[in-house]
Amino acid sequence: KTLVALAQKMPKTELHLHIEGTFEPEQMFAIAQRNQVELTYKTVDELKAAYQFTQLQDFLNLYYQGMSVLLHEADFYDLTMAYLTKVHSENVVHVEIFFDPQGHLSRDVPFEVQITGIYNALRDAEKKWGITSKLIMSFLRHLSEESAFETLEQAKPFLKWIDGVGLDSSELGHPPEKFINVFQACRDLGLKITAHAGEEGPPEYVWQAINLIKVDRIDHGNRALEDETLIAEIKKRDLTLTVCPLSNLKLCVVTDMKQHPIRAMLELGLNATVNSDDPAYFGGYMNDNYTALIEKTGINKEELFQLSKNGITCSWMDQITKEAHLKRLD
Ligand code: ADE
Ligand code: ZN
Repeated sequence: KTLVALAQKMPKTELHLHIEGTFEPEQMFAIAQRNQVELTYKTVDELKAAYQFTQLQDFLNLYYQGMSVLLHEADFYDLTMAYLTKVHSENVVHVEIFFDPQGHLSRDVPFEVQITGIYNALRDAEKKWGITSKLIMSFLRHLSEESAFETLEQAKPFLKWIDGVGLDSSELGHPPEKFINVFQACRDLGLKITAHAGEEGPPEYVWQAINLIKVDRIDHGNRALEDETLIAEIKKRDLTLTVCPLSNLKLCVVTDMKQHPIRAMLELGLNATVNSDDPAYFGGYMNDNYTALIEKTGINKEELFQLSKNGITCSWMDQITKEAHLKRLD
């Protein structure tokens, strides 16, 4: 119980969060109504009852349906502000959030509409509460590299608001090597790079993320633990793993929270961090993720501090901001 209280109080960062995955059913229905869009599910309860997944794709099908009610700048603003309000109440001091522009461009929602809504909410939350942030544009890996290049073109007028580029959606069958050229172009523009790898995909995909995409960090990375040489490489390069415990449980990446590998990752000396991924779909925000780890894995106080510290040092904040946050940890 005291560990849960400690975790709630700790300054936390969130480094793996899809803003479209924070879409709570109540808000989804409200915005659907406001925009006169029909949802497949008729009630909040019916929708929530559908949140039972056996693999990543089951979730993604609902995730793309859910985000389809987002049409106007105010929708993106309201979604982002609701998330920031929630995490502010949980002592989250810094967020690095993903958005999926192709999931909206495909419905003719302009890039500018999406990013302006999201960016204005991030800016307002920093003014109001001092929450700092980075914005990461993600490419959908089930689409082509050409589509990713087109998205990058759309993003060019807004690069001042974009800190990094990610790779998400259906992992199996869509290895990082499919996107070598577009990530090279992103790197040439000075953008940070991250990619989902080793969530469902094999260690080979993590190798590709490192060697071909040249990632600055790895999202999930669970299956890297199957390959000792890969573990050594991740350590050598000092790469971060953005781990998502409740997501892993809901998507059956782990069968039981008691078996979650995060303590093993810390034991191996890997830079693991705790994140919520798609909290509206997976049963909880940052504090819920920590609580699940505390209650099921026997994680101890030192490990909790290490995770909180990793969240700060492994973020893309500048050094001065990091040091300011670290001071508050002592
Ligand atoms: N898009 C949103 N959440 C995701 C996840 N956990 N893995 C891959 N793509 C995603
Ligand atoms: Zn994710």
